[in-house]
Amino acid sequence: MKLSVNFILIATLLVVGSLAADHWTYSHLDEWPINCQSGKKQSPIAISKRNAIRIDLKKLKFDNYDNDDIKTTLENNGHTGGGLSSTYVLDNIHFHWGSEHTIDGGRHPLEAHLVHYKQTCGNMVNASNYPDGLVVLAVMFDVACCTNKDLAIVTNSVKSVSKNLHSTLRIQDDFKPEVFLPDNTKCYYMYTGSLTTPGCNEVVTWLMFEDAISISQTQLNQLSQVYTDAGKLLSYNFRPLQELHGRKVFYTSASDCD
Ligand SMILES: *[C@@H]1O[C@H](CO)[C@@H](O)[C@H](O)[C@H]1NC(C)=O
Repeated sequence: MKLSVNFILIATLLVVGSLAADHWTYSHLDEWPINCQSGKKQSPIAISKRNAIRIDLKKLKFDNYDNDDIKTTLENNGHTGGGLSSTYVLDNIHFHWGSEHTIDGGRHPLEAHLVHYKQTCGNMVNASNYPDGLVVLAVMFDVACCTNKDLAIVTNSVKSVSKNLHSTLRIQDDFKPEVFLPDNTKCYYMYTGSLTTPGCNEVVTWLMFEDAISISQTQLNQLSQVYTDAGKLLSYNFRPLQELHGRKVFYTSASDCD
């Protein structure tokens, strides 16, 4: 299989909590659409490294990922011998706190989702109807001592606006998608799942890096400072873990990823 992904940068940061059109919340999961409750390929999931199937996921190749213009490509030569070969367009980047996926039981303070739709689908809405419509890169964050200077352009932009649940932020400055990539992009997981918000469409190929990015506590606060309509800080926006229902999770078999 050859998965070829082109990222066209729009650099939109979305706030996840509830969307303007509908009124779901994380405290009333039983009111989410029926598909979210009966689906068999839902996300997020608990990832177990020991149980992940080692296959040759190949090294992801990021072309022009350090470019602040438009096209950026990612290539992944093959996992199961399938026939996916497509171009995916970056639509938005958003954050969940704490992390939605867990790796070996650990929940990180923050998880970024870089959401891409299949270019031939034209847009997110249409892509959400096709099993291979979306590719989401998931990136975990850890809190460390120091400011992550590469991410300062993002955290400073976020800081300058008062965010509510319905806000979308466009980053003006020369933003490069590579700031959201960990140093090591060789070691990653892959599985098929869903959107983690309503309508929970089962159309997502998840690619999740094993290595986290370090940010300071201040930066974490900046990225997660979102207010509800009632004027309260949104304390968390992660969906509970979902059943695997027999799905396989893959992990790269590269020798230096053990
Ligand atoms: C929706 O996606 C399909 C499959 O990629 C494509 O053939 C079709 O043209 C798209 N429709 C629109 C309105 O973009």
